[in-house]
Amino acid sequence: MKTLAIIGAQWGDEGKGKITDLLSEKCDVVVRYQGGNNAGHTIIVDGKKIVLHLIPSGILHLHSVSVIGHGVVFEPEAFQNELKTLAAAGIKVSGSNLKISENITIITSYNKILDAARESQGSVKIGTTGKGIGPAYEDKIGRRAIKLKDLFDLEALKVKLARNLGEKEILFKHRYNVDFPTVENEAQRLFALGALVKPFVCDTFSVLDQAVQSGKKILFEGAQGILLDIDYGTYPYVTSSSTSLGGVYTGAGIPESHVEEVLGITKAYTTRVGEGPFPTELFDSLGEEIQTKGKEFGATTGRKRRCGWLDLPLLKYSVKASNLTSIALTKLDILSGIKELKVCVAYEYEGKRIECAYPGIDLMKAKPIYKSIKPFVDNFSGPLSQELENYIKEIENFLGIPVGIIAFGPERKEIIFRKEYFSDVEIPELDLSSWGKQAGTLEGIYPQVDLGKINKLNQSKK
Ligand code: GDP
Ligand code: IMO
Ligand code: MG
Repeated sequence: MKTLAIIGAQWGDEGKGKITDLLSEKCDVVVRYQGGNNAGHTIIVDGKKIVLHLIPSGILHLHSVSVIGHGVVFEPEAFQNELKTLAAAGIKVSGSNLKISENITIITSYNKILDAARESQGSVKIGTTGKGIGPAYEDKIGRRAIKLKDLFDLEALKVKLARNLGEKEILFKHRYNVDFPTVENEAQRLFALGALVKPFVCDTFSVLDQAVQSGKKILFEGAQGILLDIDYGTYPYVTSSSTSLGGVYTGAGIPESHVEEVLGITKAYTTRVGEGPFPTELFDSLGEEIQTKGKEFGATTGRKRRCGWLDLPLLKYSVKASNLTSIALTKLDILSGIKELKVCVAYEYEGKRIECAYPGIDLMKAKPIYKSIKPFVDNFSGPLSQELENYIKEIENFLGIPVGIIAFGPERKEIIFRKEYFSDVEIPELDLSSWGKQAGTLEGIYPQVDLGKINKLNQSKK
């Protein structure tokens, strides 16, 4: 196995950062392909906590290359802060071990202002992270986004910003009554930030193409979770990107056949931050106990996460929606010792029993049907207790795929691999410095190539 995608199988915060960090040890390239700094991926090393929002969680392993692909929305100030956090933790980040797509979409300050204005004054509150994610993706799909490569030409940047701000000014002045930046200020701010990002910028399509061609081990690190997907999720209470498997292909820029395994990260219970339906949500003291014991606070916004029982119909849907091949079950330690344990095995929905939350169903109307499971107490130091084995079996039987990993604490060592990932790995010596650099002669047309600038080389034919 050479390529694996890590995907959140619920509503985010399943522990993707921890699993990515651990598996990164075994691979060459780690890629973020969608979302932005709405993500908060926590890694704990020897008691020290690092929360990554934009930079792939593989960055802690110096032998690997981290890539931020063109499907991500990129906030340069957040990136600058993250570089500082990593520097303070003694982690070296340079253009050799971090590559950022020149074609990535920038989150501008007016994207953030619009996000905040809609959340505070709009008719539907999504409970966003307030990072400008939705408006940035809107600009991308509307073909007016500021791309990273635009930050290197101040005059051209001003022209693009004037077009965008000219349109949004009407909203800011007349609909929301909020302050917004001038073209000049925003251009100068982004231009200065562009200089900081420049050493990391390259054609990441070619980096990944070369990595695949030379048989490197590649890990794709998803952000958010399948139920937050713009198409597969609980719309409109979703994020604005493709968080499910499809996002890997478009967001990293990699053909479908290049993703061999898909590992769904799943908490042993369910959490959600922000608004939206949540059939198994607990409103009682047990919900509070899980929230407190699990320290369920958002890693990006600090908001309390809503907590509830494991929802198997939702997970079955996630397995189908992203073709998950195995599951990593995290936070089992939080359920250990809890006096009551239940899993949702079906919904009562419009008078029928259904066992898979297919996309058409309105989860607001789904009434969970629970199965009580014998609670377990485990300290995870020896063979697992029979009750815990039964809990895992219940999940595997229902989903039809194996639980390949179990995690029982935030630290790296608090994990058991029940299945091997990247098993046949030999980490070759890499010359990372040349990756992603434009060659003098192009032999293929990559998406970032400006066709207007190409001088054709005449091939003499006999
Ligand atoms: P992500 O967004 O999916 O990367 O997850 P977050 O980092 O937002 O949230 C997961 C939280 O659970 C973090 O604080 C992790 O340190 C922590 N965590 C991960 N796995 C485990 C586990 O097995 N047990 C416990 N107790 N904490 C865990
Ligand atoms: P990670 O990668 C959990 C949620 C927000 C809100 C909705 C839309 O750490 O799992 P947005 O700011 O994206 O427009 O907000 O999506 N959300 C997340 N919830 N984990 C995340 O990321 C999230 N990123 C966004 O709370 O409900
Ligand atoms: Mg998170």
